[in-house]
Amino acid sequence: MHTTVGIIGAGPSGLLLARLLHRAGIDSVVLEAKDRSYVEQRQRAGILEQTTVDTLRAVGAGERMDREGLIHDGIELRFDGRAHRIDFPELTGGRSVMVYAQTEVVKDLIALQLAEGGPLFFEAQVHSVEQANGDRPTVRYTHEGREQTLTCDYVVGCDGFHGVTGSAIPAAARRTYERTYPYSWLGILAEAPPVYDELIYAHSERGFALASMRSPSVSRLYLQVPNGTDVADWSDERIWDELDARLATRQEPGWKLARGPITAKSVLPMRSHVTEPMRHKRVFLAGDAAHIVPPTGAKGLNLAATDVIVLAEAFTELYKNGSTALLDAYSETCLERVWRAEHFSYFMTTTLHADPEQSAFDTRLQLSQLARIAASPHAATELAHNYVGAPISQDA
Ligand code: FAD
Ligand code: DHB
Repeated sequence: MHTTVGIIGAGPSGLLLARLLHRAGIDSVVLEAKDRSYVEQRQRAGILEQTTVDTLRAVGAGERMDREGLIHDGIELRFDGRAHRIDFPELTGGRSVMVYAQTEVVKDLIALQLAEGGPLFFEAQVHSVEQANGDRPTVRYTHEGREQTLTCDYVVGCDGFHGVTGSAIPAAARRTYERTYPYSWLGILAEAPPVYDELIYAHSERGFALASMRSPSVSRLYLQVPNGTDVADWSDERIWDELDARLATRQEPGWKLARGPITAKSVLPMRSHVTEPMRHKRVFLAGDAAHIVPPTGAKGLNLAATDVIVLAEAFTELYKNGSTALLDAYSETCLERVWRAEHFSYFMTTTLHADPEQSAFDTRLQLSQLARIAASPHAATELAHNYVGAPISQDA
């Protein structure tokens, strides 16, 4: 089989790229290692920047999101026993974010692709991308028990952090930058209404906590835990007690989360990682295959979306006007935004978490930084702009 653009991975980046290419009249084939229900149920991100929302609407995947998604005009920071709200529209000239789970984005994009897009194969495990230096990169994969080959004009690795496309780029042609963190997140989903209508990011000496949501009746909550934590050590009661303790403020001493059955529990490691460049000849990397951020800034899914928006525009330019200028600029264009998000995610993470090695001095610095954000519109504006994300055209 041959296609114009071979896409490896049906996460948000691969699926959105396939949609954007389909609408531009460019053929693609998507190969996904897992089955459909696994991909649709994988619990991950929940916050969409306005650029991501606008793009999902533009590709016809906005209908359910606009019905069920929740527009959020701010977040609350809790630290030192106090609460401070950051107002996004006021600080960013009207921008906001949407709470709509990655699981739902993925379901909507899969349904559209199967209804009217190019081929999307589940349980198609890619083993290798070969001839990355030639004119026809070749993808080798197993599907329905048979080894198969897909030749492509271009290959895009949307196959996440553990994907195979990155290794098609010779080690001498790429550089990686990495940072690990001495803590993880314990994430839960609970059938309990969120007690506050916006997200709460809490700094506490007991560690970080985040209160998010999936709907008016489902909460998504996170606790900082040590690396190597076993979920079995965290009973439901221990989780709720710890969330209450970390989210407590002096203004409302009796404040507690609404409790309900916990339907999912998992531990997520945290890491920053960037591969440069995001392209080698006819092979491109997008989303988590190229970069990882710790989740505190809610950037991972949104960066994956902006990569493929830039890439789809570049392919459109090539097939419409014969120009490779945008394709040639792809890596540089994306990396500028990637590094901004890397810095913001690192900043949010290190400002809000308790490093086990941290001194009392370090804690005072964190609290001073948070107090500055609460007191200064300049500092709050910087946070708000980073959180809602810049329109793509303003990146340069
Ligand atoms: P992925 O979603 O990882 O998709 C890659 C796809 O490629 C997968 O479907 C995989 O099965 C497929 N694949 C891999 N290898 C192969 C192969 N060899 N052959 C074929 N297919 C292959 N971000 C936030 O903003 N907030 C969060 O709370 C948050 N939580 C997260 C929790 C976890 C456990 C993880 C891993 C990430 C989380 N993220 C979060 C980040 C966010 O979910 C990702 O940035 C986003 O999923 C990136 O999308 P992607 O399409 O690039 O990669
Ligand atoms: C969610 C995850 C995040 O990492 C974040 O910063 C905000 C919200 C969520 O899953 O809802």
